[in-house]
Amino acid sequence: MPLNTKVVTKAVFPVAGLGTRFLPATKASPKEMLNVVDKPLIQYAVEEAIAAGITEMIFVTGRSKRAIEDHFDKAYELEAELEAKNKQALLEIVRSVKPSHVDCVYVRQPEALGLGHAVLCAEKLVRDEPFAIILADDLLDGQPPVLKQMLSVFDAQNGSVIAVEKIDPAKSSSYGVVAGTEVAEGIYRLNGIVEKPQPQDAPSNLAVVGRYVLSSDIFNHIRNLKPGAGGEIQLTDAIASLLKVEPVFAYEYDGVRYDCGSKLGYLKASVEFALRHPEVKDDFAAYLKGRSLL
Ligand code: G1P
Repeated sequence: MPLNTKVVTKAVFPVAGLGTRFLPATKASPKEMLNVVDKPLIQYAVEEAIAAGITEMIFVTGRSKRAIEDHFDKAYELEAELEAKNKQALLEIVRSVKPSHVDCVYVRQPEALGLGHAVLCAEKLVRDEPFAIILADDLLDGQPPVLKQMLSVFDAQNGSVIAVEKIDPAKSSSYGVVAGTEVAEGIYRLNGIVEKPQPQDAPSNLAVVGRYVLSSDIFNHIRNLKPGAGGEIQLTDAIASLLKVEPVFAYEYDGVRYDCGSKLGYLKASVEFALRHPEVKDDFAAYLKGRSLL
């Protein structure tokens, strides 16, 4: 059956990583709970999924990740207190974290064996449907939201879709890098993908960004993998195997990526999102101007 006859309703959020680039902030709390202005990264990711029509959020969690479950849970005491004090606007903010039509489910990754392994932990919940994967530390600012753009490509091309962006080739060893043929503007049919190649081995300057829409066949490919780059079970290696038997496309999305797994990317996102936040944008712009930063 063609892949695109099934509606994509599930997104997997691998959130079991150790977040070592952000220590000590991530010693006891997950990197996905880092705030950009007033919302944790994981909430931006979930909002992007909701905007794309996803209704089931599957979190692959690990140790020290309770904060994520608590964030999307109902906060009875807090809501009761805000209600008693008639703080309607705040109540609305708290309640909107998880709209009622959205389900959040959690599965544990017992050991941090890599992104591919984390995705495989969600197999029983995803079953045989195409699904999305969102890496919340890649904060993507796009209109329409990037996952929504990708689902349009998925529908049109009838194949798995991976988000990519052009990078400085010197940085290829931080990314998955793809090889492909352009079939429409910004859309490439893949014939190869490599995890974290050295610049001289990179097949192109198109790097994988943390958004994927994949056929559920990916699970069979992950299962058969041996550890790859960094000794981990790599999702990239499973995609390299999948594309030999099914079409996989790379899509250069319309939007801006902030690498919030790095301090610099996180700071840039914080400035940009603060400059458009209704509550602080004017005062923050005035502050930056005063320091000759704008
Ligand atoms: C992961 C993927 C890599 C991708 C990157 C995007 O790497 O393995 O292919 O380019 O996310 O953020 P990580 O950043 O987890 O090392």
